[in-house]
Amino acid sequence: MTMKQVDPGMEVGPAPVMDVASLPNDLVNAVKFGPPTDEDLTAVAALRSSSEPWKSRGETQEDSLKALTLLKSSIHVARLQNQIVGYVTVERDGPVPGAAYLRNIVVKPELRRHGLGAMLLDKALSVARDMYRKTIALRVDPSNAPAVGFYRKAGFTTVATVVSKKSGKLRLLMSREL
Ligand SMILES: CC(C)(COP(=O)(O)OP(=O)(O)OC[C@H]1O[C@@H](n2cnc3c(N)ncnc32)[C@H](O)[C@@H]1OP(=O)(O)O)[C@@H](O)C(=O)NCCC(=O)NCCS
Repeated sequence: MTMKQVDPGMEVGPAPVMDVASLPNDLVNAVKFGPPTDEDLTAVAALRSSSEPWKSRGETQEDSLKALTLLKSSIHVARLQNQIVGYVTVERDGPVPGAAYLRNIVVKPELRRHGLGAMLLDKALSVARDMYRKTIALRVDPSNAPAVGFYRKAGFTTVATVVSKKSGKLRLLMSREL
């Protein structure tokens, strides 16, 4: 009898929901940043495909895993109590010549509005400075109000409105000094 082969790497169930009440008071010291392992990439893909803006675009976990595998060397994951609570990507080059590029920043949904996004962004700014960049840029969908509010609060300003090559939709090009 032949056994059916099952691909273990693709769809994973949602990561366990974390209890906001158990977040430590000293989040800044409790959260640890590092590069993702191959196993982490699957969890990060699950986080991306279940978050806006990718969720509304119909991106599957498999699509997210493919995109993130290509970006692996740019990914920094944030861990708390051995769980991935968010990630950010920083590339040396992007849509603004001479500026580093922040392509993705995502916090676990149940832990949003507790400062983790700001901590991930601080990590991204520090990585970009280590790349000897003076500016960091990003593209954001203007209808993604939480992200636009978050970036504005962090000092990003809109430098141009661009049309996405992929979707034909408008995107804000934002940047800030480092
Ligand atoms: C954007 C995102 C990373 C912010 O993470 P977060 O952990 O909630 O952010 P913080 O708690 O550090 O918020 C810092 C500040 O940003 C602003 N902000 C954050 N979420 C906001 C929201 N939903 N609406 C308006 N402003 C918001 C606030 O000024 C906030 O400060 P406050 O809570 O003291 O008012 C998070 O909402 C997320 O993961 N969104 C889905 C993925 C996404 O859209 N990423 C961006 C495109 S790649």
